[in-house]
Order: sequence, then C-alpha cells, then structure tokens
Amino acid sequence: MVHFAILGCGRIAGNHLQAIQEVPGAKLAAVCDLIHERADGYSREFGVPAYTDYHRMLLKEPIDVVCVLTPSGMHPIHAMDIMQRYGKHIVVEKPLALRLADIDAMREVAWMASKKIFPVYQHRYNKAVQLVRDAIQTGAMGTVALATVRVRWCRPQTYYDRDPWRGTWSLDGGALTNQGIHYLDLLLYLVGEVEQVSAVTATQLVNAEVEDTAVATLRFVGGAVGVVEVTTAARPHDFEASISVLTEKGTAVLGGIACNELWTWTPAPEACAANSETFPNVYGLGHTPFIRDVVREILEGMPHPISLEEGTRAIRLLSAIYRSAEDGVSVFLKDHPASRLLGRHNPGLSALYLTPPQPEAAQD
Ligand SMILES: NC(=O)c1ccc[n+]([C@@H]2O[C@H](COP(=O)([O-])OP(=O)(O)OC[C@H]3O[C@@H](n4cnc5c(N)ncnc54)[C@H](O)[C@@H]3O)[C@@H](O)[C@H]2O)c1
Repeated sequence: MVHFAILGCGRIAGNHLQAIQEVPGAKLAAVCDLIHERADGYSREFGVPAYTDYHRMLLKEPIDVVCVLTPSGMHPIHAMDIMQRYGKHIVVEKPLALRLADIDAMREVAWMASKKIFPVYQHRYNKAVQLVRDAIQTGAMGTVALATVRVRWCRPQTYYDRDPWRGTWSLDGGALTNQGIHYLDLLLYLVGEVEQVSAVTATQLVNAEVEDTAVATLRFVGGAVGVVEVTTAARPHDFEASISVLTEKGTAVLGGIACNELWTWTPAPEACAANSETFPNVYGLGHTPFIRDVVREILEGMPHPISLEEGTRAIRLLSAIYRSAEDGVSVFLKDHPASRLLGRHNPGLSALYLTPPQPEAAQD
C-alpha cells in the first residue's frame, strides 16, 4: 500500500483526493493546509487527520508520498524540504517549478534522498491525446507541417484577487504558466522538441503584473512550425483549449475545454466519438490514471510515463517564450533562455506560504 498525504487543500486538492480513493494500492494518510478549515473539511470527509504544519504531519503519520499542491512558486521549496528532511516521494502539481534552475536543484535533492518526483500533466491521459500521439510516434502520420495551440479561457479580476500569490511573477506567472502550460506540454508530447521561439505577451483585461495573453511562433527541431495562442482574456467564459496538428498523412484537431474531444481525425473520422470525453471541468479526469502510475512505479518499479525530465520540457519552452517576449527577439532553446521575471524572488510573499519547523518538530 502507498500512503499519500495532501499538502495544500485548495482548488486542485479534490482531484488528488478522488484519485487516491479510486486507485487500488493508494491510501490517504493525512491532509494539511495552513488554513485549518480547508484541511478540516477534507479530514472529516475522508476520515484522516488534519494538520496545519506539515512538519508535524510528516513526523507523526505513516506517509510515502506527499502531493505538493501549494502555490506554484513554492513547489521547489516545499518539495525539497520534504524530500531532504523526511525522505518522501513527491507528486507535484503543474507547473513543476517556475525556474529551470529550481528544477536542477530539485533533481539533485531527489537523487541525494533516493526519492522520486512525479510532475502532474494529467491531460496526457486524455483519449484524444493518446490516439494522436501514437499515430505521430509510429510514423503513421508522416511529416508534421504545422501545429497550433489555442487556449481561450476566462479568468476575470476576481480570480487574480482571490489569493496573494495569484498573478505574481514570483509565485504564479501568467496565462502561459498557469493555464497554457498543459498545452505547451501536450504540444511537445505530440510533435517533439522546439528549437526556436518568437513571442509577444500582453496584459489586456486585468490588473495584474503577469500576462493574460500570449502569442508565439515556433520552429520545431523536426522542421515543423507552430503557433501558440494562449489567453485568459476570453469573455464571458471559457471557450476552448485545442491543438491542431497538420501532417503529411492527415489532420488532427483535439478540442473541447481541455483537449478532451477529438474534433477532426482524417485517418478515421469515425474514431472521433470514441476518443472524445466529457469533462466535468477543465481539470479533467487524468489525475486517477496519473496516481495509478505513481503507485505502479513505487510498488512494482514500472517507470511513470511522466518522468522528471518529461515534466521539465514544458518549463523549458515556457522560459524561452517569456524571454523572447521580454527581449523582443527570437530565441533558440539551445542557448537556455530564461525569463527575467518568472520565479523572481519575493521573500515577503513567499513567507506567507512557508512552514518553518518548530524546535520540537525539527529532526536535527
Ligand atoms: N493540474 C491542474 O489542472 C491544476 C489545476 C489547478 C491548480 N493546479 C496547480 O495546483 C497548485 C495549487 O493551485 P490551487 O488552485 O489549488 O491553489 P489554492 O490557492 O486554491 O490552494 C493552495 C493551498 O495551499 C495552501 N498552502 C500554501 N502553503 C502551504 C503550506 N506551507 N502548508 C500547508 N498548506 C499550504 C494554501 O493555504 C491553499 O489552501 C498550483 O501550482 C496550480 O498551478 C493545477
């Protein structure tokens, strides 16, 4: 049995809790949130202890894996502290980290602690994604010519005003980082690595330091070209998150609210219905198979399909897109371009989400 704990009982926690309930071999051990009522709600619902201090939780409860569901810019700090101090495996929500340098540090700590980091990109499990990916990977679609990402979602000012971390460069990032990252990841998963990026970003309809709209053109290593359009300035509601892939042998359009529907599949149009899923919300259904694969790796040694390296790819592309937009030039990924803004230090803001060990809880 693999014992899981939840760190951060906010908006995405429910998907992890449901997945842990559904997966054989997974068991919920405890939940933790700085805000007592949040942890307490899930504690009552699932019959496990609630904590506001993760050090106390990790010293007291039998836990193998901690799901780090805290504000994005805190993922490296929380994950490294938990691996280093308590030797637990980590499931970490997207984005894995805001800076590539932080991922390097996380990799090092995981290696030293002999622990695994499992980055969440649950939409890779969508049926439409799997079908199109297999066809491209096997060569059945021939050469890819053009791939297009289009995310048109609605995040009004109230969304950014909900929590201090939202809409900040140090702990969140904008539409590309928070919402677009799933689709940057899927684009790389379907088409392959990008070598060159040219981008423009803008803050159009909200008062926030980060962008709510971004456009980029890409050249892939394999020769394909790409277009990225990501916005949270669609009004009055979410419209689509889609990816089109145009190839020598035909066309795929993955659409719906989160690439959950197969809108066009010219090799076999009749397969569209069977490879389209109804999602209750934009978070989708992928957390359950994701947690199933975490359990398989821990119990059976079967490598998780989304390794730390796989999880890093979208952050690399994200960094390049921002750097291109910041400098107003085309950038090449071989030069390791990094954003000057995303993940910048803001100790005052980070302090809101730190849990220093209490003297009696410290191990050394
Ligand atoms: N995979 C997805 O589709 C998806 C969807 C939504 C959010 N996310 C990601 O999940 C993460 C959390 O997002 P959210 O929308 O749930 O945020 P949220 O603000 O609703 O929840 C975060 C929670 O973490 C708690 N927290 C922060 N620091 C803590 C600490 N030191 N100890 C205990 N609790 C702490 C906060 O009190 C808060 O309740 C983000 O990185 C976000 O990008 C992923």
